[in-house]
Formats: sequence, structure tokens, C-alpha cells
Amino acid sequence: MKEEMIVTPWEVKGEIDYNKLIEEFGIKAIDEALLNRIKKHTKDLHYMLRRKIFFAHRDMNWILDEYEKGNKFFLYTGRGPSGKTHLGHLIPWLFTKWLQDKFGAKLYFQITDDEKFLFKEKLSLEDVKNYAYDNILDIIALGFDPKKTFIFSDTEYAKTLYKEAIRVAKHVTYSTTKAVFGFKNDSNIGQIFFTSMQAVPAFLESLKAGKNVPCLIPLAVDQDPHFRIARDVMPKLGYYKPAVIHSKFFPGLSTVQKMSSSQPFDTIFTTDTPDEIETKVMRAFTGQQATKELQKRLGGNPDICAICQYYYFLFEPDDKKVEEIFEKEKKGKILAGEHKKDLAERVVKFLEEHHKKREKARDMVEKFILRD
Ligand code: TRP
Repeated sequence: MKEEMIVTPWEVKGEIDYNKLIEEFGIKAIDEALLNRIKKHTKDLHYMLRRKIFFAHRDMNWILDEYEKGNKFFLYTGRGPSGKTHLGHLIPWLFTKWLQDKFGAKLYFQITDDEKFLFKEKLSLEDVKNYAYDNILDIIALGFDPKKTFIFSDTEYAKTLYKEAIRVAKHVTYSTTKAVFGFKNDSNIGQIFFTSMQAVPAFLESLKAGKNVPCLIPLAVDQDPHFRIARDVMPKLGYYKPAVIHSKFFPGLSTVQKMSSSQPFDTIFTTDTPDEIETKVMRAFTGQQATKELQKRLGGNPDICAICQYYYFLFEPDDKKVEEIFEKEKKGKILAGEHKKDLAERVVKFLEEHHKKREKARDMVEKFILRD
């Protein structure tokens, strides 16, 4: 039997049906008209848009209307520091960086240490603070503009955030959070309050500018429920509703579902060594036939082959080359061993570069941190 699909900010399970999510969440599919409109401003389209890895949105047309009137938007995204950064996290961050470059946008980057403390039974405040620092290095390593990027953690930037969060909280009832997130009577009360903290950065720039500034939030689609609530509340506080652009989940190595830190062999962390990367990639699921002969004769299925999916999501921005890789897999022209070795080499190279930038980031942290 197929596992039931569950997508909430704290749990992603089952086979993901993105069309069904569009319907259930009430979001819009990104269509060609919208892509063309974006392209007018960006000249080229990021591969994540061309491939519909970013597949849905709320109010992107409004964001572009405002932009065309000269009303620039700012970007907001975030990270819950519950562990080390893995490759899946890089998807929305890399895309956010592209948006920052193309639109010259400011970026507020929220680190929700409070959230992970409240939702992960085993994590202490000290744990989440350590992960926060560690994750920030990965964020900075991606090359965000230090003059336009503001990173802050909820517990440390609390003097600013808390005042605003209670303004949000006053408009959110218990029954709303229960309906949206599925809280139970034994959920701790910090969890029930938390969504108001995640709403605040969507109007931080408006607060600082002393006027309404449109906000665009790139995120993985599981985070959308927070912004259903925020979009409801913000007009009541005198702000625009934020626009949202949603990505699919990066696949794990052993299944083609969401990569998760709770399954370490399924996951490549940005700090993994070349040996660790190789071992993990060599164990990946390809779905190839039982024998070489059968594979050569019958071919495979790129849609379920983790190696193909890795190229598609992160390691091959050239569409033609991705197509070639998929063709080879389909026609049985590449066997699992070689397929994996090629990818492992790419990942090692990519992460070696990343490690260098990550080390340099240590001296840059203070340039990015927002304090009050
Ligand atoms: N809650 C998110 C997480 O668990 C972190 C986050 C905070 C976020 N604000 C955001 C993600 C805005 C996307 C957009 O990772």
C-alpha cells in the first residue's frame, strides 16, 4: 500500500504528489506566462525555474507588478538549526542568492533556534545555538551580498522580534494553529506560539523603512502553512501580504523522497569528507535491473534513480547534459557503478570548493549578523 502523503513544517512523509499539494495548499502552479514575465527582468531563467523545481507560488504577479512600478521587494527565508546543513538545504538558498543578484534585493535570513529547541525533544538550547553558527557558515559560503543580507537568530534578536511577534499572536487563535499545524492538547505552548515568530521577518523591512515594502519568500513547500497564517494577519497590522515561491523537496539517496538529517546514510552533509561522500553515493538507489545484461537490454528509469535526480536538482545546470544523462539511464547505456562514480566525483569537487568558502566565512560572520 502507498504511504499516505503528509506535508507539514515538521513532518514530510509518503510519496509526494505536487499537484495534490497545489490543490490542498491553495497555491498556484508556476506557468509559462509567469516564467516569461520573470525572464523579462532576469534575462535568463535559473535552472530551478526552467525545471519547475520551484513549481508554485502565491502572488508572484503582484510582486512583479510592484517591481515594475519601481516598488522593489525584499527577500526573506530561513533555517531551523536542528542539525548540520545537507545538500537539500542548498536548493532554496542558492535560488534565493540568484534572486538577490538579479533583483538587487535585500535579504532577511531567519535562524529559528527557538523553533528547533521547542520542537526537537532531544535538542538543548546549547545544541541549537551551535548548529545555528555552523549553518550560518554554509549560508555565508554561498556568496550572499554582505551589504544586503541580514542574518539573525530568534533568541538573540529577540528584543526586536518579540514585540512584533506578540502583535501577530494577538490575531491568531489556538483553533487556527491547531487546524493548520495539527497541534494536540499535549503540544507544548511554545510550539503553539512559534508561528508568530516566523511571521515577523515578512514585515521587518517595512518596519525599518517606515513604509510598506513588498516581501518575497522563497521556501521549500512544507513551510507554506506558516505563511497562510502570516498572510491572513499582516493586512490587519497594516502590511502587505508576503508573496511566496515554493520548491520541491530534494531527494534522498536511497529513495526519491525528501532528504532528511534523521537518516544520515541517505543524506550528504556539506561537511562530509570525500570518503564519506563516496561511500554514501556508492550505496545510492538507482532502481537498475538485477543484472548488467538485463540493464543493458531493458534500461532504467531516471525518475526513480537517485543519481539522475542529483544531477537534475543540483549537479548539472545544463539542460542538454541532464537530458543526455537521463537518456543513457533509460537506454541502459550506463551501469550503476560508473553512474555513481561520476556523480561522487562531482559532489566531491563541489563540496571541496564549498569547504574553502565555508572556512573563509568564519571571519565574515559579524558582517552579516543583525543585532539589537
Ligand atoms: N522553519 C524553517 C525551518 O525549519 C526556518 C524558517 C524560518 C524559514 N523562516 C523561514 C524557512 C522562512 C523558509 C522561509 O527550516
